[in-house]
Amino acid sequence: MSEKEHKVSRRQFLTYTLTGVGGFMAAGIMMPMARFALDPALKAGAESETAYVCELSQLTEEPQLFPFTYKQTDAWYESDVSESAYVMLVGDEVLALSPKCTHLGCQVGFGTNDEHPEQFYCPCHFGRFDKQGINIANTPPTRPLDAYEVTVEDGKVNVGQIYRR
Ligand code: FES
Repeated sequence: MSEKEHKVSRRQFLTYTLTGVGGFMAAGIMMPMARFALDPALKAGAESETAYVCELSQLTEEPQLFPFTYKQTDAWYESDVSESAYVMLVGDEVLALSPKCTHLGCQVGFGTNDEHPEQFYCPCHFGRFDKQGINIANTPPTRPLDAYEVTVEDGKVNVGQIYRR
C-alpha cells in the first residue's frame, strides 16, 4: 500500500472530528434528560401501595364506611389522597367496595333508603346495588360497585388497587 492511500484530507479530518465531538456532547446532554424522564417509572415498588382501613375485629356482615388515606405519586409530585370504602365480611372473606356509584359517580349509602334497607342506594338517580354491591336490574347503574384488593395482616385490613367487577 502506498502512503497516498492512507492520507486523510483536511476536510475529512474535520468532518470526523466534529462528528465525534458533536456525538459526545449530544450524549452528554441526552443522558440526564432521559434519566430524568424515566426515573419515576423505574422506581421499584411505586405501583404496589396499600392503605390501612380498619381492624378486622371491627368488621361484621353489615357494610360499614371507613375513611382512609394513601400517598399518590404523580410523576414527581407526591400527595395524600382521602378515600373511603364500604368494608364487610362475606363468610371468611373481607369485601371492600368503593362508595362511588357506577352510573355517574355520586356517593351511595348503605341502608339509606327506607324501602330498600339492605341495599346500597344512590340518591342522584335512584340507583341501587345489593348488599355485595351488585347492581339491581332496572335501575340506572349497569355494573357492580368497584372493589378494592384486600389484604389482612396481623388483624389489620388494608386495601390496594381498585378494580371493576
Ligand atoms: S349517579 Fe348513581 S344512579 Fe346516577
